[in-house]
Order: sequence, then structure tokens, then C-alpha cells
Amino acid sequence: MPVRSEAESYTIEFQPVGIHGHCPAGKSLLDCARQLGVGINSVCGGAGTCGNCRVRVLNGHVSPVTTQEHGYLSPSDLKNGWRLACQTYPAGNIKIEIPPESLSAPQRTQVEGLHVEVRPDPVVDSYRVSMTPPSLTDMLGDADRVVQTLNKQLVKPCTLVDFTVLRQLSMRVRELGWECQVAVRSEELIALDRYPSRRVGLAVDLGTTKIAAYLVDLDSGKTLAKRGATNPQVGFGDDIISRLSSAMKSADAAHQLQETVVRSLNSMIEEMCRETGTQPGQVLETVLVGNTAMHHLFLGLAVDQLSRSPFVPAVSSAIDVKASNLGLRITPGGYVHLLPNIAGFVGADHVAVLVATKPWRYRKGAVLTIDIGTNTEVSLSQGGKITAVSCASGPAFEGGHIRHGMRAMPGAIERVRISDGTIQYQTIDGAPPIGICGSGILDSLAEMYRAGIVDERGRIQTSHRWVRDGGNGREFVLVEAKGDNREIVITQGDVRELQLAKAAIRTGILALLENAGLREEEITRVIVAGAFGSYIDIASAISIGMLPSLPLRRYRQVGNAAGTGARLALLSRKERKRAQDIAARTHYLELAGVPGFTQTLAETTHLGKYRISRGKKSPL
Ligand code: FES
Repeated sequence: MPVRSEAESYTIEFQPVGIHGHCPAGKSLLDCARQLGVGINSVCGGAGTCGNCRVRVLNGHVSPVTTQEHGYLSPSDLKNGWRLACQTYPAGNIKIEIPPESLSAPQRTQVEGLHVEVRPDPVVDSYRVSMTPPSLTDMLGDADRVVQTLNKQLVKPCTLVDFTVLRQLSMRVRELGWECQVAVRSEELIALDRYPSRRVGLAVDLGTTKIAAYLVDLDSGKTLAKRGATNPQVGFGDDIISRLSSAMKSADAAHQLQETVVRSLNSMIEEMCRETGTQPGQVLETVLVGNTAMHHLFLGLAVDQLSRSPFVPAVSSAIDVKASNLGLRITPGGYVHLLPNIAGFVGADHVAVLVATKPWRYRKGAVLTIDIGTNTEVSLSQGGKITAVSCASGPAFEGGHIRHGMRAMPGAIERVRISDGTIQYQTIDGAPPIGICGSGILDSLAEMYRAGIVDERGRIQTSHRWVRDGGNGREFVLVEAKGDNREIVITQGDVRELQLAKAAIRTGILALLENAGLREEEITRVIVAGAFGSYIDIASAISIGMLPSLPLRRYRQVGNAAGTGARLALLSRKERKRAQDIAARTHYLELAGVPGFTQTLAETTHLGKYRISRGKKSPL
């Protein structure tokens, strides 16, 4: 269904993979995806007869709905923008969401983190309750009978029965023959099930880009299953600010943002329960951590005050919310516990990282804990004091705002080396290169700098044979278009974007050190957490000046430590309490108020190894 001449083309963006490029008019969305190396399921090869290529048009104009599409998409699907990629043609610049079931290659998500042993002592206790059935001489109400029998075993009596449990209680106790297992949380009966029943909990790290979820046995502490997924909110914007702006547009938009995450979590719960033979009703408690914006969007809290100076959260303390109020499908009487936030831009996820890594254990010296992401949180622990900053590193390290950037999935270049006049690269799963993900982007910049392709100010050098004029400035050709290979370049604009991202992080580190009266060489340990942080080459990060030049042995990459912290708070009352103590005693340092902030930010855009102390820069 061509709507323009073949010579014209449109800009098309595929989310959540983060690939964008040009699509000639007259090509279907499926063709465009193939051309850009994005894998969309297409069992029928694009004939419109399998329904596997469902995508959602997030914005922009496309061709009218075809007869084949009416066969696979309901009127409500169509109303919500769902289309078949093989039947739909762009009629302007567009943004497309590919749901996980339509993606032919899954995105790599980080669910691995530190393993920290903890003695299980969850906030939910379970008891066996065996009762005598009612009779003409014993006509006590069913719920009262359960509670009275239960309270004979308790020191602190149960005083409340969750309403959803109450509604089912009479039927269930009869079905179960007056013997059941009840779950009690802070004097409230939250679940009633067959005795004996498995007791599980859910730990969630809700990141701006990724979600990691863990199904955990509350008795053994064992992680039974884990899942990683892209945060479906990326369709509303890559970074926190655009996500907040979307939520502020209307109550409906805020509701959509909340709903889309809950939907994704529910399908993760379902999958993990299926895999482990668990019923969602046996999931008794959830602990969720995220940055303050993700926390607020998940709860549907107001975010206006979060996006305006002085950037205050609606709430900082830990919160307990009934899962059913949020639409989360665990046991209906169960709770979601959200760890406390530190400040508007340092959230519960950083608290969870600190719970998992316990930087105060390193008694001597100063420990930096860095969680690199779209927003990077850095804290400095020294002598029992913790100070934290938030750095607006932006989406560049997630592949955002980079010409051929993409998220970490098969075909993404993840490592780059330039030596002996050749460029070597490694892609995820060894697939043909289709773009470049965060670790590859960082490596590229480091290697370009080492090879003299960019100078310390980030200017791409014309004299190099792999550099050309790309029309909108210079660009370095990382992969040449050859055979099936798509051309992949690093543009001058990309280099600028990376300089800003890495400068934001280094400036945050320097501000913390200045505030504590320390020099970089006095840092004894650097803990690097987060999905991106676990894949980066630390030496590359040092050589572009993103991280301080310290011996590599002082660095430790710990993977998804926020997920580990959430798991600990799920399993242990002590760790949950610890999270509250950490949040209460962490001092937040607002970077904008730090003297010399703008100057340091400008200085740290420079590439190379250097020290900056008291505003003075010295090369190493
Ligand atoms: Fe089969 Fe589109 S590829 S319906």
C-alpha cells in the first residue's frame, strides 16, 4: 500500500529494542524492521496469515487497516494501535512498540547479581489451623472460628482478616475440611490455603529500562525462578524526564504508564509460577525497588513535584500497599512493600544496592557505590557516613540518542578493539552486527581515543582513513556495509552525547569526594552495580575519564545488586529494617548546588586519564 514515491523515506523507531532508521515509502513495517536488523516473528513470511507480527503504533500515521488484520485484531486492539507489521505501511515518521511475543530475538536483561546468604525471617508467618466444624451447639461465625483457633497459637493476636479472604473464607474452609494454612502479616490474616502449602515471595527491581523479577521461597530463601524484561514504559520515553512528562500530560496517560508495568509484572509472575509449579495465590509478599520516578509511576503517585525544583518525592518512607489495589496478581490479600527513597532522584533501588553490598563493611577508607543507568546514582561511604548524588547520565549508555545505538540483544556490538590497523568487534550471541549497545559504545569511544581517531576534546580527526564526512558532521565507520552487514557508524554527535554522559558521572564522583575532603586516590573500593555496569570494560571507562584512574583491583562489578537487595528485604525483617536505617542516614547532595559544578562538568567532558582536585585538572 505505497503512499509516497519510492524515493521518499520516513523515520521509524522500534521500541523497546531502541533501533531507529529510515524506511523507504512503500515498505511495510515488517520490511523496515528487517532492513534495520530488527527481528519480528513472521511465520507466514509476511502474507498476513499467521498473526505473529503484532506491533503497536505509538505515534505517527500509517496505512488503513486491511481485511487480514481484521481477522487477527479485535476492534479494541485496533483502537489501541495494534497492527500487523506485514500489513502496515508508514505514512509519516512513526514510533513502533514490538511486544516480547513478537520479537524473534530476546533482549539481554540483567537478572544476575550478588549471592548474599540470609537467614529467612519474612514478615509473613504461616500457621496450620485445624478446627471443629460448626454445629447446633457451636454456631460461631466461620471467620471468627478461624481467628479464634489461630490466636491460641499466637503471642500477638491476629485482629484483622483481609476482605478478599473473608469473601472466600466460608467456602474455602468447607472445601478444605476445616483444616487450612493461614498467612499472617502484622496481625492481619492475608491468605488462607490448603495445609501444607508452599510460601513464596516476589522481589522486583523496576528499572527505567529493565525489570528484573525473582520468585523466592520464603522458607528456604532459595530463588526458584527469575525473569528479566524491558520496562514497557520505554514506549513513553527513554529517560526519566520524558516518562514524567508523559505522566503529567493527563490522568489517563499516568494510568497507562502504571498499567503497562503491572501487566508486564503479571506476565512475569505467571511465567515464573508456571515454571516452578506454584500458584500466584501462593505469592504472599512482594518487595519492589526502583528509582523514585519508577516508584511513583508504579504507585500512581503525583509526579509534578518530582520534576520541578526542589524535586521532592511525594513520599520517602517505606510503603506497604495491598497488591490488589495496584492490580498485581499475587495472593489478593498480600502486600507490596516498597523500600524507602533517599531523595527525588536517588531512590529505593540505590538503598537496595547498599543493602546488598554493605559498603560500611570496608572499615578502612572510602567506598564508592555506583549504579550506572539512564540516571546514575553514586554514593560515598566513609566512617559510617553515606552521602549520595544523582547524575543525569541520560540514555546514551542504553543505546539512546546514538545514531546506531540499540539495547543489548543479539547482534548488538558489545566489545570493540582497534589494533594493528584493524577494527575488531564482538556481537551478542555472535550474530551479524545490527547496532551497538552501551558497553560497545563505551569501548568504541575508548578505542577511538587510544587510536587517535578522536582527540581529548572529543573531536573526530579527519586525517584517519575510517573517518568521513557524513553530511551532518564527521563520522567513524565502525562496520562497513558489506554483504548482509548493515553499516554502523559513530558520529560526532554520538561522541558529544557520550562525553556528556560520562562527564555527568565523573562530576558526581568528584562532588562527593570534594564534599568529604578526599582525593580520588583515597578511594579504597569502587562497587559498580547495574546491568550496564556489569558488562562494561572498566579499563575503557577509565581511559575515557568516566571513572577515576585507580588500580583495577579496587573495582568490583556486582551485577544487579538492586535485585539482590530487594530479595534480602523480602526474606529478612532485619534487612528490611536496615534499608530504612540506610535511607534515614544517607545525606543527599544536590549537584546543582555544588560550587564549581558547571566548570567541573565542562572539564570532565575531556577524554583521557586525569585527576581533578579543587577545580584543578592534571593529566596522568
Ligand atoms: Fe504473518 Fe504478518 S507475518 S501475519
